[in-house]
Amino acid sequence: MKGIILSGGSATRLRPCTKVTSKQLLPVYNRPMVYYPLNTLIRAGIKEILIIVAPERAGDFLNLLGSGKEFNVKFTYEVQDKPRGLADAFLIGEKFINGENTALILGDNIFEDDFSAAIRDFQQGGRIFVKKVSDPERFGVVQCDQQMKPLKIVEKPKEWISDYAITGLYLYDPRVVAAAKSLTPSARGELEITDLHNWYLERGELSVSPVSGEWIDAGTFDSLLKAQILAKEKLQDKLVI
Ligand code: G1P
Repeated sequence: MKGIILSGGSATRLRPCTKVTSKQLLPVYNRPMVYYPLNTLIRAGIKEILIIVAPERAGDFLNLLGSGKEFNVKFTYEVQDKPRGLADAFLIGEKFINGENTALILGDNIFEDDFSAAIRDFQQGGRIFVKKVSDPERFGVVQCDQQMKPLKIVEKPKEWISDYAITGLYLYDPRVVAAAKSLTPSARGELEITDLHNWYLERGELSVSPVSGEWIDAGTFDSLLKAQILAKEKLQDKLVI
């Protein structure tokens, strides 16, 4: 399994803190934010990780993270020159993926869980990880049947369909590259991760796993504050980097 961490974007919701740096480099207690999703991949046994960054911040990420040797893994870097959406990671990462299974994690997603078993046991299709939340309108949301079989996925639904938010960790088989290539940009000009999930859903090959521990998308000031407290109180003994 290869790993991709998507750390691009301009994070306008966190201005002025992100005017001269990237959201994923802001501190979350005693580490830069990006350490937490990286930790999730490394702790799960992933050794080869592609880091996708915005062009103006590429040097900062390289200075901070280097080759990966320090953490016993190998980092590769690619630049996303415009925020073209999450599914764009698979066009940028095609060569890196090289026909293998891939875990994608978003650079602002902070998890308490250990995903080693899920990643080790994953075989094919697409897998999303979900968590019940009180504010589903902020996220991609999935409606499931009693057996947690996915029925419908909507990005930031205006009308309530379910409380299950789709977190920013995803597993895919190698067809994800072809699937991403088949997508057309949405009204906001982005290749939507939701459309990628619908590609697998239509084929009956999307599976859903619950996240049991805490999860935070640290992309707003309030969630960033919560992430700081979570990091201090619950994550310190789970950090391998
Ligand atoms: C993105 C995805 C959304 C997902 C969320 C998780 O939203 O589009 O489906 O639920 O990440 O953090 P964004 O945070 O970019 O608005």
